[in-house]
Amino acid sequence: MLEKEKVTVLAIESSCDETAAAVVSEGREVLSNVISSQIDIHKLYGGVVPEIASRKHIEKINQVIEAALIESGKTLEEIDAVCVTYGPGLVGALLVGVGTAKALSYAAHKPLVGVHHIEGHISANYIANPDLEPPFLCLVASGGHSHLVLVKDYGDYAILGRTRDDAAGEAFDKVARAIGLGYPGGPKIDKLSREGNPEAIVFPKASIDGAPYDFSFSGVKSAVLNYINGCKMKQQPYSQADIAASFQKAVVDVLVEHTMLAAKDYKIHQIAIAGGVACNSNLRAGMEKACEKRGYSFYMPTPVLCTDNAAMIGAAGYYEYIKGVRHGLDLNAVPGLKLGE
Ligand code: KG4
Ligand code: ZN
Repeated sequence: MLEKEKVTVLAIESSCDETAAAVVSEGREVLSNVISSQIDIHKLYGGVVPEIASRKHIEKINQVIEAALIESGKTLEEIDAVCVTYGPGLVGALLVGVGTAKALSYAAHKPLVGVHHIEGHISANYIANPDLEPPFLCLVASGGHSHLVLVKDYGDYAILGRTRDDAAGEAFDKVARAIGLGYPGGPKIDKLSREGNPEAIVFPKASIDGAPYDFSFSGVKSAVLNYINGCKMKQQPYSQADIAASFQKAVVDVLVEHTMLAAKDYKIHQIAIAGGVACNSNLRAGMEKACEKRGYSFYMPTPVLCTDNAAMIGAAGYYEYIKGVRHGLDLNAVPGLKLGE
């Protein structure tokens, strides 16, 4: 009998400050994953400058796609579909990926599949864990989002909780700036925390009445700023490392507690994490420990698949493609795209 041909997709991601392309087979096998990061440019400004991001995507996108195809050993003709992030994200940045994907789809006569960025982050877990199947609960924590998502089936999601204000990664970035660590703050706070005492300062852990799975990180961020200002006014020295470790503990504890509460209430015993903040060593360890204690299975992508990349878009795009999802050449960037739309 002839072996079934594998479905292989080319995926493109340009929603924020990484220009990325990947070739993925059967949703889980990464043949190439090329990422061109703009972090070195944006850190000069203390955060992502949207206009610069768009321009850099235009400069890089063709090279990145070409590199992804060469590295995968596939030609465009051998690809079954072109998948692209069409939201949420920065509109100018998204448009570069969407425009390029449409041109490739038209020129090579390949179906076009638009992918939700968060669905991509969640799907990074399929790559890292070949045995993972829905249903599972996924905490998505990145620079732009903090969502607790019930993955009912492939492409079928219920958002159980979300942030009311700042995303977790945004809080890491803002606190890092306040203590003079620079952008992006998450990895810097993570590293510095190892030298600090997480019990040194008690920062607030916000809960929202009537919405037990929602998050709020603006309070802890303000508390850090107030603490620093208080020390400066009293001319007291403060420890950057203690602030970093105590802030990180406040954020990680809430992320773990809310996820465990939702897992118990919804009786879901497979837990995953995703998004840039899922690189955080304390969150990875804290979640693993909490799951182990309760007998839950815990899944996490490798760090390179947590931050923005196109392999995750290829994984999500594959499941959309086999469900029959196809987009027309009128596909547009949707900066505020909601999950499930
Ligand atoms: O998923 P991502 O690359 O982009 C968005 O979709 O937003 O996430 C970037 C965010 C940044 O806020 C960054 O500070 C945070 O992820 N991040 C971390 C760590 N590594 C990246 N936050 C905490 N600890 C880390 N190790
Ligand atoms: Zn992202």
